[in-house]
Amino acid sequence: MARILFVTGKGGVGKSTISSATALRISELGYDTLLISTDPAHTLADLFEQRINAEVTGIAERLDAVQVDVVHEVAEHYSELMDFITEVLKARQIDEVVAYEIANFPGVTGAAALLKLLRYLEEGTHDVYVLDMVPSGDALRILYLPFIFSRFSRRFMKLITPFIELGKPISYLTNIPVPSREVVETEIRLLEMLEKIHGYITDHKVTSLRIVMNPDAFSIENAKRTLIQASIYGLNTDLVFINKIFPEELSKGYLSEWYKAQRDYLARCELEFNPIPIKKVRLFSEEVKGKNSLRVLAEEIFGEEDPTKVYHESRPIEILHSERGFEIILKIPGVSKEDLEVERFGDELLIHLTLPTGRSAIILPLPAISYKYSMKKAKIINGELHIYFGEGDE
Ligand SMILES: Nc1ncnc2c1ncn2[C@@H]1O[C@H](COP(=O)(O)OP(=O)(O)O)[C@@H](O)[C@H]1O
Ligand SMILES: [Mg+2]
Repeated sequence: MARILFVTGKGGVGKSTISSATALRISELGYDTLLISTDPAHTLADLFEQRINAEVTGIAERLDAVQVDVVHEVAEHYSELMDFITEVLKARQIDEVVAYEIANFPGVTGAAALLKLLRYLEEGTHDVYVLDMVPSGDALRILYLPFIFSRFSRRFMKLITPFIELGKPISYLTNIPVPSREVVETEIRLLEMLEKIHGYITDHKVTSLRIVMNPDAFSIENAKRTLIQASIYGLNTDLVFINKIFPEELSKGYLSEWYKAQRDYLARCELEFNPIPIKKVRLFSEEVKGKNSLRVLAEEIFGEEDPTKVYHESRPIEILHSERGFEIILKIPGVSKEDLEVERFGDELLIHLTLPTGRSAIILPLPAISYKYSMKKAKIINGELHIYFGEGDE
């Protein structure tokens, strides 16, 4: 089975640099490796000092790279569909802002990269796929779509297809927008693909998420948010990188205050990302460019290790049943009660998070048994969110 490594983090933290170094090291260990980038800036081309475009191109022995042209992909295949998804979400009384949040463009760019990845996986082109993702793990959001559509849309599509064929409007019956025939066809195809992708990326033996940050407040918060979302969607984050750490010699002089601040952030990260292993990466004295520098970087990061191994595994969601209800436990490190608001919409929970980096909403599909129960309370106990469901009214 192939191995998939997603590398994500805020813009500028060093995702492209670290994913390239990782991919180069992996290829040198003898794996056929494909480095996939969705970054519209042509960073990979700069890093490898070679043109990289929408065709898979060899850039070193056993190492290929490809630049997914997401704008082109989306415009070509999925634009009507994304409008429709937004409509469906709105019709399901998911707040319009959240609906757009889910179906929005950065999310879609992530999806386009995932669909491309699926094609490579199915053709079995390589042993290892390293994805240099769009900033802040936006692509993760799209992983929610298979949940929505598998529960709702298969039934719905069967129901409405005859109407579409007859050209009859049924909006007044269902209060849900009727998609065009093209949308239905694209959607069924897309649905199947998303389900497959979902299977691959939630398989912890196949896929790991690796989050890159710098020792500064903003990128750490961003990394935590990504970790939370990843946990909830069932992705395994097996490694975090703290990149651009000042070396000891900057501890004196002009940058000494920055140096001290970095040490504090590092200490905080040790606590907040525990038990996920942390790789600390020093700030090089110049830009990292070319295979030789990437090799040096990879050597410093991984030493003798094989970067394809699963560094850590944890199951972030647990469901406990009892006689009179059930309890969902989510491990969401670093979130406090004030940051959280939990709402229920039928068979889904909407968890609103207010973080220093902004508001975010996470949608969690509930198990089928939840139909019998109502949501009773939500509490945070030792970094875990416990949501209780039981009999009687909400
Ligand atoms: N450890 C490092 N030491 C020195 N420069 C670095 C390091 N990591 C990244 N850089 C530089 O920082 C800039 C941004 O890195 P990049 O990998 O393109 O970030 P991202 O892909 O997250 O936007 C680049 O100029 C890169 O050379
Ligand atoms: Mg980049």
